[in-house]
Amino acid sequence: MWKGRFEEDTAQVVQKFTQSLDLDWRLYKHDIQGSVAHVRMLGKVGLISDLEAAQIVDGLNIVLAEIESGKFKPSEELEDVHMNIESRLTELIGAVGAKLHAGRSRNDQVATTVRLYLRERLTNLRKSLVSLLGAFLDRAKKHRLVIISGYTHLQQAQPISLGHYWMAWFETFSRDCERLEFAARSLDECPLGSGALAGSTLPLDRDMTCGLLGFAHPTRNSLDTVGTRDYMSDYHHFASLFAVHASRMAEDLIIYATQEFGWLKLPDSFCTGSSIMPQKKNPDVLELIRGKTGQVIGHTVDLLIMTKGLPMTYDRDLQEDKRGLFASLDTLDGILEVLPSLIAKTEVDERAARASLEKGLGLALATDVAEYLVLKGVPFRDAHWKVGKLAHYCIEKEKPLTGLSLDELMTHIPEIEADVVDILSLEKSVERRDTFGGTGFEQVRAQIERGEEILGEKIRAM
Ligand code: ARG
Repeated sequence: MWKGRFEEDTAQVVQKFTQSLDLDWRLYKHDIQGSVAHVRMLGKVGLISDLEAAQIVDGLNIVLAEIESGKFKPSEELEDVHMNIESRLTELIGAVGAKLHAGRSRNDQVATTVRLYLRERLTNLRKSLVSLLGAFLDRAKKHRLVIISGYTHLQQAQPISLGHYWMAWFETFSRDCERLEFAARSLDECPLGSGALAGSTLPLDRDMTCGLLGFAHPTRNSLDTVGTRDYMSDYHHFASLFAVHASRMAEDLIIYATQEFGWLKLPDSFCTGSSIMPQKKNPDVLELIRGKTGQVIGHTVDLLIMTKGLPMTYDRDLQEDKRGLFASLDTLDGILEVLPSLIAKTEVDERAARASLEKGLGLALATDVAEYLVLKGVPFRDAHWKVGKLAHYCIEKEKPLTGLSLDELMTHIPEIEADVVDILSLEKSVERRDTFGGTGFEQVRAQIERGEEILGEKIRAM
């Protein structure tokens, strides 16, 4: 299609090297969607007749049907999805097919096609992400009154509501959902009519194609349009942070389900066994999530490096942008296909959770005692020191903090009075952390209520 000015045929190896069919064939539907809009516009502005426009649209629909039924096999000689479809069109409807590409370049064509494709994939990803948010919310409601140890440095820190823990991931992933929505807005501009780089001498109606394809507005600068992949980077930014979060959460659940922690029960249907050790129940799904997310981050870096040295405007390097994009989208789809159900079926062994806090001699309540002393007028640093000594005593004597007698407590810390018994309880400890956003049961209830509103808004916007 572009060989008019060449004296020699393209070398076989070059054809093989430059083709992008193996990558971009999956874009056929969106390429045709863009072409139909373009052709309607050509008809409306009078560059082709209404009859010609109708013939081309019909022809494109036949090509689409041929592709979907597997009848039409693309050829590598025709380089990419765009030229395969155009060439098949002309085969089918004759010379009029050659009018389709007026006022268009593959540069604005590919940019439009990928935006259409990505828009559809993001709509689906958003649905899955919203169902993940629903799963966290569901677990938070179920486990709001269950007490586990909260950890910093993976050391027992303070008792928390397991509902609070699930809501932490709800918060995290709802931010990801917002980043996804930003990426969807970022791609919401129509490149068609930008041509190869500088627009067109033909009287194209860019608003019309934009409207037909459902974009918010046409892109404003043709040079920028054919050269930019910022909207893709915005997707990758979302995808990378999602990957970081999914990996981090997977790591948590893997740890909590070990015999050593032992209080998290992963669903059998989302675990696998060992071919030699009969007793094993392995968290392979979570491990694979952790394992696959590195690639997602890699694809982000790939695109940034691919684009950082590119002269304005289109450069062929950009053909490679689709490799990482598709791989990343497929990985996210795969993760989001398993994760919501896995979360929804995850249970807790409350006895084991409590036993784990007991193994820590109840010292997760140490901050509570220090704060109790603050309420009695003891400066916090002094209180910290005194309770630190008390904790040391518990560890030395292997006595739980909650098992010390009032005498023992008062010998160490004279400011302690009989009302300390109200403090030395896991339930009370959680209940009293009632600062906004804290783990107090009522705070978690409020978080869940707010979470339900957020989820409702997201579902309504689908
Ligand atoms: N297959 C190409 C791509 O994906 C289409 C654009 C080719 N443009 C060009 N001027 N050679 O980017």
